[in-house]
Amino acid sequence: MGRTTFGKFVRGSVAVAALACGAVALAQTLPDSAVSALSIDPLALSKMLADYRRPNTIPESADNPTTPYKAQLGKMLFFDPRLSGSGSISCASCHNPSFAWQDGLAKGVGDHGHVLGRHTPTILNSAWAEPLFWDGRADSLEQQAMGPMLAAAEMAGSPEKVLETINTVPEYRDGMTKVFPGEKLSVENVAKLLAVFERTVVSSDAPFDQWVKGNTNAISDSAKRGFVLFNTKANCASCHSGWRFTDDGFHDIGIAGDDMGRGKIVAGIVQLERAFKTPTLRNIVQRAPYMHDGSVRTLEAVVDHYDHGFIQRPSLSDQVKPLHLTDQEKADIVAFMKTLTSMDAPVEYPVLPR
Ligand code: HEC
Ligand code: HEC
Repeated sequence: MGRTTFGKFVRGSVAVAALACGAVALAQTLPDSAVSALSIDPLALSKMLADYRRPNTIPESADNPTTPYKAQLGKMLFFDPRLSGSGSISCASCHNPSFAWQDGLAKGVGDHGHVLGRHTPTILNSAWAEPLFWDGRADSLEQQAMGPMLAAAEMAGSPEKVLETINTVPEYRDGMTKVFPGEKLSVENVAKLLAVFERTVVSSDAPFDQWVKGNTNAISDSAKRGFVLFNTKANCASCHSGWRFTDDGFHDIGIAGDDMGRGKIVAGIVQLERAFKTPTLRNIVQRAPYMHDGSVRTLEAVVDHYDHGFIQRPSLSDQVKPLHLTDQEKADIVAFMKTLTSMDAPVEYPVLPR
């Protein structure tokens, strides 16, 4: 139900092989002290951890291969408000690197202060995140990027406005002629450059990854207990799986509201009503408030939601059940989520060409 085909993407075969033999490698390298604080068998822990190893390569689109020059042009365009109707809003206004590529608001605010219907998601690790949007309505980053440039509520642009900007800025005009030889300037190709840049926005190692690699002291005992709970009693990993902590699937977790989510895209399946795409948990502590409507303000409140705060209704996922977590267990799960913040170098804002 979750993913669309990945057939058109060149997936990292090296990464997949590395994931497959991770369990064995870890069982040999994890020192005993890594597990002494936990009531779990070391081999079982190694197997659990192996599911979270980071891939070694970034997927790219076969139709739109990644090159450093395309990424550089795409980055400038991502930060350039001249693509918008008013000349004042860029992709980065809402997907702001200072807020882990979100905006820190409950719901996005677009052109003329128009409040959007949903919370702005991060573009971090979006190379792996297709299908895109909370309801999965875009199959690729290329397709997604067309939307906000032209949507009245977001950037209020028009194909004419976008192409006028490209035409009047020699670096954009010449750059696009160079990377798309023989093609006319088009909004589709601007979207391709934005997509290439987005694929380069990848979170680097977090303390959690250091622990996966065998550094026993990288995270606290509380966070280690939280990781085990996340994978066992609390059942979080049934949806937040893999190194990005998402199955890229759609689930109703019982948040109040009328937004039908995936149910509006795929009609007639009760489990997809009010179902939204499982968000990544990478850099989660930097990305409050939470959920598709920004209605949950803290990680503590998120854990309380799963413990007992969800709405029972026919579409509710059968993976969401009362958890009866103790206060210590809740604190452990939050401590674990706080270890998912990558230790990135600060993002350099591009100087925009005139
Ligand atoms: C006014 C704020 C705003 C602007 C400007 C904006 N976005 Fe978004 N973006 C959003 C919101 C809100 C969503 C979620 C909408 C939904 O799911 O229905 C979103 C979703 C996305 C997603 C999907 C992420 C995922 O994991 O599903 C990507 C990628 C994205 N935007 C890229 C861009 C690009 C590229 C631009 C510039 C061309 C841009 N955005 C401009 C607010 C904005
Ligand atoms: C049935 C699948 C499922 C399970 C089980 C699940 N989640 Fe989620 N999680 C989701 C979905 C789907 C959303 C987005 C829901 C929405 O916005 O309406 C979400 C949202 C979140 C968010 C907010 C992310 C953001 O960027 O806004 C956090 C944090 C989170 N979950 C943590 C957890 C923890 C901790 C557990 C275990 C206690 C857990 N989840 C169990 C599917 C699940």
